[in-house]
Amino acid sequence: MRILVTGGAGYIGSHAVKLFGARGHEVWVYDSLVYGHRGAVPADRLVVGDLSDVHRLDQLLVEQRIDAVVHFAAFAAVGESVQQPAKYWQNNFVNTLGLLECVRRHGISRFVFSSTCATFGCPTAMPISEDTPQAPINPYGHTKLAVEWALHDYGQAYGIGYAALRYFNAAGAAADGSIGEDHTPETHLIPLVLFAAMGKRPQIEIFGTDYPTPDGTCIRDYIHVDDLALAHLLALEKLTPGLELHYNLGIGHGYSVREVIRTCEEVTGKMVPVKEGPRRPGDPPVLIASSEKIQKELGWKPHYVELRGIVETAWQWHASHPKGYR
Ligand code: UFG
Repeated sequence: MRILVTGGAGYIGSHAVKLFGARGHEVWVYDSLVYGHRGAVPADRLVVGDLSDVHRLDQLLVEQRIDAVVHFAAFAAVGESVQQPAKYWQNNFVNTLGLLECVRRHGISRFVFSSTCATFGCPTAMPISEDTPQAPINPYGHTKLAVEWALHDYGQAYGIGYAALRYFNAAGAAADGSIGEDHTPETHLIPLVLFAAMGKRPQIEIFGTDYPTPDGTCIRDYIHVDDLALAHLLALEKLTPGLELHYNLGIGHGYSVREVIRTCEEVTGKMVPVKEGPRRPGDPPVLIASSEKIQKELGWKPHYVELRGIVETAWQWHASHPKGYR
């Protein structure tokens, strides 16, 4: 396939680009480099451009005779989305609709969309399956669910085949150490704990120790970024015109914040200084995925089934790239 990957220089996108290339697909990366990294993708495959530039996107789809679009480009900071909803609606929703219109104009019938567990909000029953009602509780989750609805309507009316993949907590780095996670600012737990282990930060603050969980801290389902990339590949290969796929992606097992810190200490062999702080607004106590549907329908299986293996790859990346891509 000839695949356009928006946001392909970002964390999850770059791992997908690497896998698609290794599987013999022709890949073009479209990325503004506002959050993505030039060094995360092959230089001759990168087109620097903004998602709002539909003229540029149109050109690219025609010139490169693109058969499939994998759409990662989006803003993804929950807290920021509460402060600046306009930024999120504009980029994650309006610009995505612009891209969808390009896809429709050019008769492209394969579209894979990065959705999120944030579209589920705060469900009480675990694990979260595709039948769990979607009720997001922040603007980020709203914009992602709105795109899922638009995709459904476009699928029905125009025959675009799409997959909406709802990631739980993406973590880890390429097993060969070549690419990894580099966000500015970093807000995610695993890299922050590893930074504290390296002495790059004085400590890790635990956001809330009074949750109704066994050790009082939040529980999340951490999934390796390469396993996420594989799900995109399988979905792409499955898609046919008008087919609508929705899959939740996690390993089906949750780890508390304290368990993550302990695992990072074991992997790095270093003590991580911890400060116990108040809850972070908007954090659901527990999020665990059921990924049975994609396992059954696409034969997807996570290679990394335990947190330790995921953290090992993250540590390999951070220890060898203390300044990220810089
Ligand atoms: N946490 C801390 N201290 C930190 C950072 C995080 O205790 O310094 C805790 C959080 O409170 C949370 C857990 O670690 O309980 C994981 O936090 P992350 O920020 O790493 O990830 P989130 O679960 O908040 O975010 C993920 C995705 C988002 C998605 C969200 C949906 O990264 O894209 O799940 O809830 F929107």
